[in-house]
Amino acid sequence: MKRQRRTGVSWTGALLFFLTVAAIVSAAVLIYSALPAEMTDGAKAGAMLGVIAAFAFLCTAADLLRRKLTVERPVRKILAATDAIAAGDFTVRLESGHLYLRRDEFDEIMENLNKMSAELEHTEMLHADFISNVSHELKTPVAVIKSYAEALGKGEPDAGTRQKYAGALISAADRLTALVQGVLRLNKLENQKLTPAYTVFRLDEMLAEAALSFEEVIERKRLDLECDLEEVEIRSVPDYLELVWNNLLSNAVKFTDAGGTVSLSLKAENGNAVVRVADTGRGISAEVGKHIFEKFYQGDASHAGEGNGLGLALVKKVIDLLGGEIAVESEVGKGSVFQVTLRGAV
Ligand SMILES: Nc1ncnc2c1ncn2[C@@H]1O[C@H](COP(=O)(O)OP(=O)(O)O)[C@@H](O)[C@H]1O
Ligand SMILES: [Mg+2]
Repeated sequence: MKRQRRTGVSWTGALLFFLTVAAIVSAAVLIYSALPAEMTDGAKAGAMLGVIAAFAFLCTAADLLRRKLTVERPVRKILAATDAIAAGDFTVRLESGHLYLRRDEFDEIMENLNKMSAELEHTEMLHADFISNVSHELKTPVAVIKSYAEALGKGEPDAGTRQKYAGALISAADRLTALVQGVLRLNKLENQKLTPAYTVFRLDEMLAEAALSFEEVIERKRLDLECDLEEVEIRSVPDYLELVWNNLLSNAVKFTDAGGTVSLSLKAENGNAVVRVADTGRGISAEVGKHIFEKFYQGDASHAGEGNGLGLALVKKVIDLLGGEIAVESEVGKGSVFQVTLRGAV
C-alpha cells in the first residue's frame, strides 16, 4: 500500500514564523512603553532600532541553526550516499538521525535510497554469480574440444580413434549449445521478452509425444516407461510446456538406473491439469531438494557432465509464468515424483 505523504504547506513552519514576528513586535511595543518618559524621541527611536535589530539577529541565527540541523545535514548525507551509489558502491545504507521524533520526507528519501542500494547490491551479486557459473560451465567442454582437437592434429589416428574423438567433440559442442540455449531461454523468460502464445490443445497428446522422444534412451538404459494419460484439453503455451516435460523426463531418465521405472500420468482435477513425472531412481535428499530449482545447481556430481543445472530453473520459471504449481516428493534410494498443476484445463 502506498504511504500517505505530507505535501503542500508546512503549517507548523508558518505558525512558528507568525509567532516569531508577533513576539518581536510585541516585545518592541512592551519595551517602547517601558522606556523612561524623559527620553527624547530621537533617543527612543535609536533604542527601538537597536532592540529590533538584536531580536531579528537572534531569530535569524536560530533559523540558520534549525536549517543546518533539519535540512542541510540530511541533504548532505543523502548527497554523499548518491555520490557513492553513482560511483558503484552499493553497500551504502543511511540512518536518519533526528533531533525530534517526527518522521519527515528526508526519512522517506533515505529509506528509499537504502532499498535501491540493497536491490542494486543484490542484482550485482546475482550477475557476478551468473557470470562465474556460466564461465565454469564453459570451461569443461572447451577443454575437451581443445584436447581432442590437439590429439587429432597429432599423427594419424586410425579410423576407430578418429570416430571416438569426433564423438567427443560433438558431445562437447552439444553441451555448449545446450548451455547457450538454456541461458538465452532463461534470459528471455526472466525479462518477459516473449509474449506467451496461448492456444487450446490436447495435453495428453503432447505428453505422449514427449515420452516418445525418450523412447530410445529409455530402451538403451533398460528402463520401463509407464504412461497413464487422461484425455485433457488445456489452454496454455505449448512451447513453454514442452520445455517442462522434456526437462522433467530427462531428469527422471538420467537419475534412474537400469531396471527402474519412469512413469508419466495426467489427470484433470477441478479445472486443473495434474501431471506427475515419477521415477524409481536415486531420489533427492532434503538438503539437495532445497536448491534444485536454483540456476546451475546440480545435486549429483556424478551426472554433472550430462546437464548444466539450468533445467529445473527453467521449469520453475515457466510454471510461475503460467500461474501453475510444481511440487516434489522424494525419498533417497527410492525415487522422486514431480507434480505439476496447471490451470486452464477445458
Ligand atoms: N528425477 C530426479 N531424481 C533425482 N534427482 C533429481 C531429479 N531431478 C532433479 N534432480 C536433482 O536436481 C538437480 C537439478 O536438476 P536440473 O536443474 O534439471 O539440472 P541437471 O539435470 O542439469 O543436473 C540435479 O542435478 C539433481 O541433483
Ligand atoms: Mg536436468
